[in-house]
Amino acid sequence: MGTGRTQAVPEEYRSRRSCLAVPGSSQRFLDKARGLAADEVFLDLEDAVAPAAKSQARRNVVAALASGGWDGKLVAVRVNDATTRWAYRDVAEVVGQAGRGLDVIVLPKVSDPGHVVWLDLLLGQIEQDTGGEVGRIGIEAQIEDARGLARVDEIAAASSRLRALVFGPADFMASIGMRSLQVGAQPAGYLGSDAFHYPLLRILVAARSHGLAAVDGPYLAIGDLDGLRQAAVSAAALGYDGKWVLHPGQIDVVNQAFSPSQDDYDRAELILDAYHYYTSVEHRGAVMLGEEMIDEASRKLALVVAARGRAAGLPRRQRFEPPAPTGQARARQAPPGQARARQAPPGQAAPSGPGSADHSPPGESLSQAAGQG
Ligand code: GLV
Ligand code: MG
Repeated sequence: MGTGRTQAVPEEYRSRRSCLAVPGSSQRFLDKARGLAADEVFLDLEDAVAPAAKSQARRNVVAALASGGWDGKLVAVRVNDATTRWAYRDVAEVVGQAGRGLDVIVLPKVSDPGHVVWLDLLLGQIEQDTGGEVGRIGIEAQIEDARGLARVDEIAAASSRLRALVFGPADFMASIGMRSLQVGAQPAGYLGSDAFHYPLLRILVAARSHGLAAVDGPYLAIGDLDGLRQAAVSAAALGYDGKWVLHPGQIDVVNQAFSPSQDDYDRAELILDAYHYYTSVEHRGAVMLGEEMIDEASRKLALVVAARGRAAGLPRRQRFEPPAPTGQARARQAPPGQARARQAPPGQAAPSGPGSADHSPPGESLSQAAGQG
């Protein structure tokens, strides 16, 4: 699976199929993470780092950010939660000294929208102080206890810096008293079909209603790739954008689970081209494409699939071919379904065609069009 993920994908819409946890206390893991195919890496200062190692981990993380080489990955740091004694130093030192190398702060154990507001304000202060672009650094909020889930809508609305909500199953299981130690797997004895369905859907709805990505948490049994695949495919089917990975061996399974199929990707790009042509050239808002009617809602759906396909590095195999140019009036009356897709020969990407250069109306980014913000 390719990794040509960042080109032409706006910042707010970066792919998060796999989000790799890298303990900030381990220089070896920090060095190794650069070459891995995860869409996002987050350098961890929280639960993967022992209290006595927090200060050294901060220094390692600052050095890792400053030296760069992250190859288009989304680069994040997970700080300690807002109620701890470490949190303000984590943010001040990491962002103050290496903020330019950082895209996102992951804030764990968010149980109150005030935690997000605190981080938003602190980031703004540091950005002003260091001459950084105010508001550039995003926030991913982890929802990992009963209080956080109960207030997830308020949390999702707490800052324009928010990019994603992330489910934290380990802490969540502890918080609600779920009787299992197998994080991410179904608890033995539960008679329902999926013990995580409620928090996953609740978080997803809150995320989407505020234009955010939704990311599932880790699957701790590193060697159980079938179990991981099942959990990832299920979260992807529900609508999640990605999932955490704790080990390099989990990355490919998760990337695959959250990538669209080649057919879906081809269809999505085709819809975008066709919709662009019909709305901008023929000024029609609902048209037939093959057997299917497409409209603005289809375009938004297609944007989501197309962005993930581009992130996965899938080739384009089809290009939209507008109806024959027999005059505008004629074209406008063309019977439904006349537009065609031009197929690329097997193994070859389709050539550029009319309407394929830019799917977004002027001034509208891919993310805005998709309702992400
Ligand atoms: C992740 O932080 C989790 O608690 O699962
Ligand atoms: Mg946690």
